[in-house]
Amino acid sequence: MLMDKKKFMASAVIVLIGFIITNLSAQEEHLFIDNRSFYAAKQRSGVNFPHQKHMVAVDDCMKCHHRYENGRNTLDTDDLAANNHAIRCPSCHGFSGNSKYNLTEAYHLQCIGCHEKMEKSAGPRLCAGCHPRRGATK
Ligand code: HEC
Ligand code: HEC
Ligand code: HEC
Ligand code: HEC
Repeated sequence: MLMDKKKFMASAVIVLIGFIITNLSAQEEHLFIDNRSFYAAKQRSGVNFPHQKHMVAVDDCMKCHHRYENGRNTLDTDDLAANNHAIRCPSCHGFSGNSKYNLTEAYHLQCIGCHEKMEKSAGPRLCAGCHPRRGATK
């Protein structure tokens, strides 16, 4: 009777850990970029961004993540933690931000800017490639 209870607890813990791990990796794989509150009225659908794929395909996190001080990118890998809001693009490129690029410009310059430098097949450059038509399930 006591053994059964222990076994049950042990398997419950294993199931729980498994659940947490799959959840974490699922969360990191794709980021859905949809900053509704930062736009007066959103015109396009949110963007499904395969973050994990980019972490592999782009050799340096700091090609996309930055914090400029005197023109130098001083961001540290330790800063790149989930739930660190200071690294999120709207923190600085939103309406109350301090950059000369607004939020749409910041994303478009970075995303499309890089894809245009790559082979044509690498990443989308056309609107619908990132903003699927309404009703589409992507
Ligand atoms: C490589 C990906 C990519 C491409 C290509 C792209 N966008 Fe975007 N766009 C984004 C991302 C990411 C955002 C940020 C969305 C957010 O903050 O919610 C954005 C934001 C926007 C916004 C502001 C938010 C809104 O919905 O009102 C508009 C408008 C927009 N894009 C229109 C376009 C148009 C028009 C094109 C084609 C000329 C285009 N985009 C091409 C990635 C892309
Ligand atoms: C191709 C560009 C790009 C590369 C390369 C990249 N990231 Fe990101 N990352 C983004 C964008 C865009 C977001 C979403 C930020 C937003 O919309 O505010 C993001 C979000 C994040 C977040 C917060 C969201 C989350 O997952 O909880 C973390 C943490 C992060 N990145 C870490 C990293 C690390 C570590 C690397 C390098 C191994 C890396 N990133 C490489 C573009 C990139
Ligand atoms: C801590 C504040 C901060 C965060 C967070 C931030 N930016 Fe920036 N960004 C800046 C500043 C400052 C500049 C320099 C231009 C200026 O003075 O406005 C800049 C410049 C840029 C540029 C111009 C090219 C370059 O790299 O200098 C792009 C594109 C850009 N940001 C996109 C993004 C995207 C996309 C994100 C989210 C992944 C992001 N930024 C997060 C502050 C920030
Ligand atoms: C520094 C360069 C760089 C930046 C910045 C970048 N990308 Fe990409 N993107 C790539 C490369 C390289 C690939 C091809 C990856 C692969 O096939 O493994 C790609 C592929 C993609 C794909 C297609 C993935 C697939 O499964 O075929 C999407 C969607 C995409 N990018 C969206 C975005 C969005 C949205 C942003 C901005 C938030 C962005 N990218 C910023 C380099 C970049």
